[in-house]
Amino acid sequence: MDETRGKLTKDGIQLYEPGDFEGMRRAGRLAAEILDAIIPMVEPGQTTGAIDAEIERMVTEAGAQSATIGYKGYQHASCISVNHVVCHGIPGEKVLKDGDILNVDVTVILDGWFGDTSRMYVAGKLPRKAERLIEVTHEALMRGIAAVRPGNTFGDIGHAIQSFVEGNRMSVVRDFCGHGLGRVFHAPPNVLHYGRPGTGPVLEPGMFFTIEPMVNLGRPETKVLADDWTAVTRDKSLSAQYEHSVGVTEDGVEIFTLSPAGRFHPTYG
Ligand code: MF3
Ligand code: CO
Ligand code: CO
Repeated sequence: MDETRGKLTKDGIQLYEPGDFEGMRRAGRLAAEILDAIIPMVEPGQTTGAIDAEIERMVTEAGAQSATIGYKGYQHASCISVNHVVCHGIPGEKVLKDGDILNVDVTVILDGWFGDTSRMYVAGKLPRKAERLIEVTHEALMRGIAAVRPGNTFGDIGHAIQSFVEGNRMSVVRDFCGHGLGRVFHAPPNVLHYGRPGTGPVLEPGMFFTIEPMVNLGRPETKVLADDWTAVTRDKSLSAQYEHSVGVTEDGVEIFTLSPAGRFHPTYG
């Protein structure tokens, strides 16, 4: 019996049991199915509030709960972040118009396990510069995930993301990060989307966390609007984000939030 199982590392990171992967798989799959199901709704003329209402309905129908409703006073089943909104956009009366790009972020709780994932969507025709941003952001996430294996560090993940994004002359947001999750929504460590190789906590089997890089076409700085949630780019440049929940296995990584429909990216076209 491995004595470290079910314990905290010296960095305060929970190590889950092999049997815990199944709960994360089920929660992650549900969150991903919901992101698949809303694809046809994302059209010019649609409101972000209507998309959120459908997400809430699907969470309830699945016998799950929304992790975000009631979280620090947040009242919606998703965050919907349009154009220069970096994250935590509040769904509401906003009407999507042709060429808008948006991130939809859903977190469900199924049988006590948290599944957290987000993707980019497009209303109508995708503008060329937005397409490049979305491609780079998705590829940055997947390069970060490719750095997940026992013995690597969280700095290796951040470095893989940052070097790819900056190599494409875009910027990585520093003000928000990924997070441990499992039976809780947000746990140690902070998963930074920038960093130096070999730095930070060492990855061990049984760690569950998100990787969720936010990438801006312009500068990395953000500010939070007066609603206390909506984070936007200070320079009003376009921003994109993708998020997966993952687990460290004995020899690599398992992605819990892959799209059952194969539509994680692209969600359009
Ligand atoms: N799902 C977001 C994340 O990736 C958190 C949203 S918290 C909310 O961590 F309250 F804004 F919904
Ligand atoms: Co998250
Ligand atoms: Co999320």
